[in-house]
Amino acid sequence: MNTLPTHIEWIGPADGGHLRLLDQTKLPGQVTYLDCRSVQDVWDAIKRLSVRGAPAIGIAAAYSCVIAHNEGDFEKLTAHLATSRPTAVNLFWAIERMKRVPPEVRTPEKLLAEAMAIHEEDRAMCQAIGEHALPLLQEACGESGGVLTHCNAGALATGGIGTATAAMYLAQQRGLKWSIYADETRPLLQGARLTAWELSRAGIDVTLICDDMAATVMRRGKVQAVITGADRIAANGDAANKIGTYNLAVLARHHGIPFYVAAPTSTFDRSIPDGSHIPIEQRDGSEIAQLPGVKTFNPAFDVTPRELITAIITEQGVE
Ligand code: MRU
Repeated sequence: MNTLPTHIEWIGPADGGHLRLLDQTKLPGQVTYLDCRSVQDVWDAIKRLSVRGAPAIGIAAAYSCVIAHNEGDFEKLTAHLATSRPTAVNLFWAIERMKRVPPEVRTPEKLLAEAMAIHEEDRAMCQAIGEHALPLLQEACGESGGVLTHCNAGALATGGIGTATAAMYLAQQRGLKWSIYADETRPLLQGARLTAWELSRAGIDVTLICDDMAATVMRRGKVQAVITGADRIAANGDAANKIGTYNLAVLARHHGIPFYVAAPTSTFDRSIPDGSHIPIEQRDGSEIAQLPGVKTFNPAFDVTPRELITAIITEQGVE
């Protein structure tokens, strides 16, 4: 059951309306909203991770294209929007799809209908991903095993019940008693702040761990499967996701635990042959530094090679 407040919503008419976003930087302490009336407002929201998670970024970008049209410079503003974050391919995918509304019929109403279609399709894709993931996780976990996830590939990151979390929501609906382990996900704590929040609100049994406890959790037999989302998947199946995902895949292989990636097909970038071509966002060192002036290295994502991934689960099935 999805008990979240609406986190991405178009308010008002197509011409003159705006995009309302739940500000995820304030969770779990405060449920506050951002009213984005310009493309720059959405750019800022994406950049600072008020809206984040690959599919949610794509949905927000799609609505932002309506604003770009209403602001009067569709081409320039959508090009600017595409500079907000580099790794999640859903951002570029959504903008490209919105641009396919032909210029001669590009009215606010047509653009809003397309953005709403992207939003609704994402909801359906999450459901389908969950249906495909459930039997795989059930095979590993049975009625009451443990599943480890990283970052937040949940409802907050999508238009539906999440990608990595979709099977967790379905398992709960169907009476399975899985224990979910959520990595805190340094440095911005998407696991501790967002995954723990949304799963516990839904009544799912969730246990928070620090990222460096994953090996111990595996060694102690507490988890039988790992599942994460992805921000971009190359043609050969190498998958970029939140920094630390690759660590988990290595650990899972060592412990003989299946490692699954769940993502909609809009996360695939078949134009690049392998993960070495995925642009990795480098974020400001102030997110991790405790000592002023200390040198930092702060990549937001890493790439898990396909050979460490047991299966990639999309809305179309398992590959
Ligand atoms: O930096 P974030 O919070 O946008 O990173 C999000 C992730 O890494 C998610 O796992 C990924 O986008 C998939 S969301 C369904």
